[in-house]
Amino acid sequence: MRLWGGRFDEGPSEVFERFSGSLHYDSRLFFADIQGSQAWASELARIGIYTRDEAARVRAALDELAADAPANPAYFQQDDEDVHTLVLRKLGEKPGMDELAQRLHTGRSRNEQVSVDFRLWIRGEIADARARLDALLGALVEQAERHPALVLPGYTHLRRAQPVLWGHYVLAYFEMFARDRERLARAAASADALPLGSGALAGSGIPLDRAALARELGFSRITANSLDATSDRDFALEFLFAAAVTFLHLSRLAEDWILYSSEEFGFLELSDQVTSGSSLMPQKKNPDSLELLRGKTGRMLGHFVSLATTIKGTPLSYNRDMQEDKEAVFDAADQLRAGLEMATVVVATAKPKPEPMQEAAAGGWSCATDLAEYLALHGVPFHQAHKIVGTIVRAGLAANRPPEQWTLAQLREHSPAFGEDSLVWLRGTAGVARREIEGGTGPGMVAQAIHAARQRLNKL
Ligand code: ARG
Repeated sequence: MRLWGGRFDEGPSEVFERFSGSLHYDSRLFFADIQGSQAWASELARIGIYTRDEAARVRAALDELAADAPANPAYFQQDDEDVHTLVLRKLGEKPGMDELAQRLHTGRSRNEQVSVDFRLWIRGEIADARARLDALLGALVEQAERHPALVLPGYTHLRRAQPVLWGHYVLAYFEMFARDRERLARAAASADALPLGSGALAGSGIPLDRAALARELGFSRITANSLDATSDRDFALEFLFAAAVTFLHLSRLAEDWILYSSEEFGFLELSDQVTSGSSLMPQKKNPDSLELLRGKTGRMLGHFVSLATTIKGTPLSYNRDMQEDKEAVFDAADQLRAGLEMATVVVATAKPKPEPMQEAAAGGWSCATDLAEYLALHGVPFHQAHKIVGTIVRAGLAANRPPEQWTLAQLREHSPAFGEDSLVWLRGTAGVARREIEGGTGPGMVAQAIHAARQRLNKL
């Protein structure tokens, strides 16, 4: 069915119908469309298009549609142009509803209807994604709590830089995903404005109480400009951006852990639950879950770029181009849900391996900064200290003498400022203890940070 046609001599070609129809995907807006239509029916009763009783019957019949659909797999396999059309047709087919269904669209345009449906849908989806982010945040805090003081190398340029605590490392991801949670909340806040009453573009011609509609549908405000409201897709873009950034973070974690769980690093054991084997090579244990998280990130960024590019250059106000918003958002939402779920299992079941981590952290002269800072704190200008320690590292590498084998006398050949108390910084990963500063990797600070993360989580 179509909701238009009076001014046409012929109907649309089958090719055009197939090309432009959206029911096969916008049926996901079905429940939102019903909700919006029920609020609309109540409003029509207030202004006398329906009697109170008629509005109640329309609402009840719409409830019946909502109950019918899940029970019938063929429900959405129809040739209606879109979900809004389907809902009106199905409503009209209910006994005694034909006339009432024909009145329901009074003063309403699909341009505002699709906007309200999409906003309702995205808000629901964001609430779900945030709950899944909470689970991931929980798994990260548990990972930190289980091994707060394990030491691993901290990297820059993927070269050993300075040792850091596992708890500190894991909480870095906690911060990223906590920001993603806020970003998603901001996208939900953008969607939280009622567009109904905007008409097709110029504002509705019937005297609606928009504030009442907003209240009924759970929107905290109404949109301010009908031209903008019917063609604004910022809320969808913001959702796609927030989802894509979440995936950037998932992808960085994936990249880290693919490396860390490799034979070359050997820092981490991924559980059997999230790895797969090779059909040919019997020894393989591949990190496919993480590779897919990393791989899907391209697709997520693509969704953002796809909608941004669609919106670019559309003249005010609504254009059919905007129908292309939905598949990007639906797929992004599905991937986001699945990705967060997957990452949570990976994080919850991964087991760090203390010895290889500790050994790697102590190697690579990762104590060099501590030695330079020791000299700087004992009167040597930092640039000189940096140079002195650089020559110590060079000599150590040339003589194959790792830091822990250096004696005080040998150090003092490079600078008389080295005292007995400097030797401790050459031993293992003692340097982490020097970083007891807010946001730093000192054990005391990390213990506090883990506690604080747990408190934040409890308050979510
Ligand atoms: N299916 C359209 C969309 O998703 C909404 C219908 C508006 N159609 C129209 N020809 N004005 O944007």
